[in-house]
Formats: sequence, C-alpha cells, structure tokens
Amino acid sequence: MDQVKFTQMKDGDKEDYDFLTAHEIEHTKGTADRLLKALVDLDEGLSGYQITRLGHSLQSATRAERDGADTDWVVAALLHDIGDIFAPYNHDEYAATILKPFVREQVTWVVEKHGDFQLVYYGEHVGANPEKRQAYSGHPYFDDCATFCERWDQNSFDPDYDTLPIEHFADRVREVFAREPYDPTVIRAGEREPLQA
Ligand SMILES: [Fe+2]
Ligand SMILES: [Fe+2]
Repeated sequence: MDQVKFTQMKDGDKEDYDFLTAHEIEHTKGTADRLLKALVDLDEGLSGYQITRLGHSLQSATRAERDGADTDWVVAALLHDIGDIFAPYNHDEYAATILKPFVREQVTWVVEKHGDFQLVYYGEHVGANPEKRQAYSGHPYFDDCATFCERWDQNSFDPDYDTLPIEHFADRVREVFAREPYDPTVIRAGEREPLQA
C-alpha cells in the first residue's frame, strides 16, 4: 500500500487510516530539518535591516546560549521570527504554534507575546501603542517576555556581533522536535526557568 483507497475521508477504513498514521509519523520526523531549511529561507525575506532575518534569528539564539539559557529557550530564540515568512501580521503566534507541543508553556507564551512586548522599543515611531504589553501586567510570564525582548530580540540586529552558524543549533532543534508532543514533563505548566543562568 502506498496510498489510501478513498477519495472522501468518510469512506476510509481502518487499513487506510493505519497506513496514514504510520506515514505521518515518518513525515513528522523531518519537522526539525524542514524548520532549519525554512530558517535559511528567511535570509531572502525582509531587507532594510543591517542583518538578514536569518542573521537576527541566529544572533538571538547565540545570545540565549551565552546567557546560559536552556535548550527550550535557545530553540525558541532561534525560531521566534520564523512566522515572518507566511504570517507577517501575526508572526509571533505562528512561531508559538510551531513550538507549543514541544517546549515549556512559559516559552510558548513568551514567543506568542513577543511582538506586543517589542513595541516598547519602537511603537512610538510607527503609530502603535508602545505599552501594549501592559495588557499582560501581572501575568506570571510577563517578566520573562520582557527579558527575552531586552536581552535577545531587540538587540540582535548587530552585524558585528560574533553570531554562531545555523549548524551549531541543528542538534538542539532536532532534539526538541523529537520529543513526545504535549508531554506534560516538557510542557511543565506554570513552571519557570530563568533566561540567564
Ligand atoms: Fe518578532
Ligand atoms: Fe525578532
């Protein structure tokens, strides 16, 4: 069997769906490498800054690693702008959706909200509310998102920074996306890990 028998999902039988399940598991194993490839594609997007989007992503991840942050943080820093390719108006939510089954809840939340938090640095220049982050005032992960933006995001546009190459992060990305999706011991709802060791 190399494809299902049905043309409408409602006509599929157990054999069809067993086949698809096995097929999807194989496909899923390639997620990490597809993401790494997409990150390289970011290099062709959005010009105007002194470094490319890929350069920015790598610089964020490099800073996270040098802060002694754990793998969830480093991979999140690497992928936080991956939504720029297909979702320019909600790139933060897009990246968070990709990460959500495989990293701590804390990390997903920070990636999801980083766009709003970043506005404090430039909102006034583009007619947006710089204090949009105040909508989350008192949230347990508020300070984490503020730190993420301050230490790894808003400052990672420096062409002279000693940024590590994508190969340096590949094994970490593969490790994260090889995890059991939604494993409670990975999601660790409500728990926080520091961004700086
Ligand atoms: Fe962003
Ligand atoms: Fe960014």
